[in-house]
Amino acid sequence: MCGIVGYIGARNTLSVLIKGLKSLEYRGYDSAGVSFIRNGELTVIKKKGKVKELYKAIDESGYNLSESGKNSISAGIGHTRWATHGAPSDENSHPHLSMNGKICVVHNGIIENYAELRSYLKKKGYEFSSDTDTEVAAQLIEYYYTKGGDQDFEGSIRRALQDIVGSYALCVLCVDFPDKIICAKKDNPIVIGLGENENFIASDIPALIEYTRDVVFMEDNCILIMTKDSIVIKDVHGEVVDYEVSHVDWDADAAQKGGYAHFMMKEMFEEPKAFEATVAPRIKDGDIYLEHFPCTREFVSDIRSINIVACGTAYHAGCIGKYLIEKLCRIPVTCTVASEFIYSDPIIDEHTLTVVISQSGETLDTRNAMREAKNRGSKTLAIVNVIGSTIAREADHVLYTAAGPEISVASTKAYTTQLGCVYLLALKFAKTLGTITPEKYTDYQYELLEMPSKLKRILDVQDRIQRFASSEFNAESIFFIGRGLDYYLSMEASLKLKEISYIHSEAYAGGELKHGTIALIEDGTLVVSPITQDELAGKMESNIKEVSTRGATVLAIIPERFAEREFSCNEKFIIPDCDELFAPILTALPCQLFAYYMAVNKGCDIDKPRNLAKSVTVE
Ligand code: M6R
Repeated sequence: MCGIVGYIGARNTLSVLIKGLKSLEYRGYDSAGVSFIRNGELTVIKKKGKVKELYKAIDESGYNLSESGKNSISAGIGHTRWATHGAPSDENSHPHLSMNGKICVVHNGIIENYAELRSYLKKKGYEFSSDTDTEVAAQLIEYYYTKGGDQDFEGSIRRALQDIVGSYALCVLCVDFPDKIICAKKDNPIVIGLGENENFIASDIPALIEYTRDVVFMEDNCILIMTKDSIVIKDVHGEVVDYEVSHVDWDADAAQKGGYAHFMMKEMFEEPKAFEATVAPRIKDGDIYLEHFPCTREFVSDIRSINIVACGTAYHAGCIGKYLIEKLCRIPVTCTVASEFIYSDPIIDEHTLTVVISQSGETLDTRNAMREAKNRGSKTLAIVNVIGSTIAREADHVLYTAAGPEISVASTKAYTTQLGCVYLLALKFAKTLGTITPEKYTDYQYELLEMPSKLKRILDVQDRIQRFASSEFNAESIFFIGRGLDYYLSMEASLKLKEISYIHSEAYAGGELKHGTIALIEDGTLVVSPITQDELAGKMESNIKEVSTRGATVLAIIPERFAEREFSCNEKFIIPDCDELFAPILTALPCQLFAYYMAVNKGCDIDKPRNLAKSVTVE
C-alpha cells in the first residue's frame, strides 16, 4: 500500500526522499510525489507512474538530486500512492496542498467520512482539485489553521483529527513552519528514524536503514512534532508521551537485490538462512525455547482451543499450523481468514489462544481480528516478521520470524519461517502436554535443524523447475491437488502462481476434484500435485490418474523415497526425504520457484505484481 517518507537534516533532502520512496516501491503503488520547503516556499512535484517518472520531473524542474548535492531544503515529505479514492493520476497523487497553498499533506489509510467533510468544506468556500479523501485532510487543517487567526500548526492538526473518522498515517508540512514536520498516526504505521542533527520518518524500515538503526515505532492516536534535532510525541490531548527507541539489526544490504534479477529470487535463496535463524537459536540441549512465551504446563493446559487468524500466505501457514497442533497436541484448532473472522461471532474466551500470523505485522484485517479476539478475552500470540510492528506490539506475546526484510510482494521466505514458528510451537505444546514421546520430540527437533541443508539441495537443482516452467508457461489454468498437509501446501502454491504469473489457478483436495471441478480438466490442462504423505500417496495416485486419463499434464512433487514409485505423471520433481510431517517446509520452495519461472517466462512484473501491495492496510 502507500508509502511515506520524510526528512529534516543536512543531507540532500530530495535524494533522501527519492531513495526512500524507491525502497518502499515494493509496497505497491501507482503514483508518487514529494513536497518540500525551500527558501520559505512550498513546492509540490507529483506524477502518475513509477518513482523514476517523479525523479525525471524533479530533475527537469532543475533540482539537484545527487546524494552529495547541497541541501537548501528545510523539510521534505514524499509519498507513493496506491489508489483507493480516485483513479491513479497526477491530480490524485500525493502530496495534497490546501487551498491557500500553506498546508501540504501525505496520507496512508482511508478517511471514511471524507464525503461529509468535503461537502462541509465546500459550503465554507473550499475548492477541491482531486477526487481523493486525503485532500479533505489538507483543507480541514487549513480551515482550522486560519479560523481562529492564531495559526497554530500543531493545534489545527489536532483539531482536524477530531473530525476525521478513519485510519491514517498523516504527514504535514506548513510553509509558516519551515523546519518542522508534524505526523499523526492511527491504524497505519509510522517509523521515526533518529539521526544526529537529522531525523527521518517512513512507513517502513527499509526507507531508513541506510541512515540509522535507531527507530521509534509511533503508537496510535499520537502526534509527532519533528525538527532536525528533536522529536516530541504527544497524545490527542497534547500531553507529551514517552517513547521507546528500538535498535534494528537488519543488514542494510538485506533490502538490496544483491545481484539477483528479482527480490523474489533473492528471497527464495535466503530461505535456508532465514529458516535456520528462526529455528536454530530456539533449540537448545534437546528442548525448544520460545522466548517471552510462557510454555508452562499450567499455561498450556489452560488452553482449550486455538484460534489461528491471518491473511493470504500467512493464512496458509496457519492452516499447516492447525493440522500440526491438532495432530501433535490434540487441541482443537480453527484457522480463519482474518477478514471473515471479525464478522463470524467467533466462539472464543479466556481459555482460547489466538495465534495471529503476519509478515508485516500491519495487515489491517489481521490486526482487527486480533483486537476482536482480545476483546472476547482470548490470549494472543503473534508470529510476526517486522520488529516493533503494530501487531507485534499489541499481542500479549510475540514470536518473531527471522526472515529479515521481505521486499517482493510475493511472500516466500516469510512463509517458510512462519512454518518454522508453527512447528516450534506445536512441538513445544506437545512436549508440555505430554502428547509426544521424548524420542519423537528429539527426532522432530533434528528434522527442523536439518531443513536448511535440504532447502539448499532444492535450490541446487532449481534449473529443473526452470526447464519445466519454460515449456508450460502458456498454460491458461493450473490446478494444484494434494491431500492432508499437501492440500494446505497446494493452497499456498496456487496463490503464489496466480499472484505473480496472473495464470488462473485453484487448489483442491485430491479427493474433492471429482465432485465438480474435474469437469474443467481437458487435454493439456496442467495439474501440479505434491505427494509427500505415505498413507495418502496411493489415494493421490488414483487422483492424478483420474486427471491424466482426461488429458491433464501432471507434475508430481515427491520425496526421494517415492522416486522409484510409479505415478501417473508426466514429470517428477524430487525433494529430499524428511519425516512426512515436515514435508511442507521443503515442498513450498519448488512451488515458489515454479511460480517464479512461469511469471518470468510470461514477462510479468515479478516483485510488484499488478494490483497488489505488500502491506495491506485497508479492510
Ligand atoms: O504481512 P502479512 O503477512 O500480514 O500479509 C498477509 C498477506 O497480504 C500476504 O501474505 C499476501 O497474501 C502475499 N502477497 C502473498 O504472497
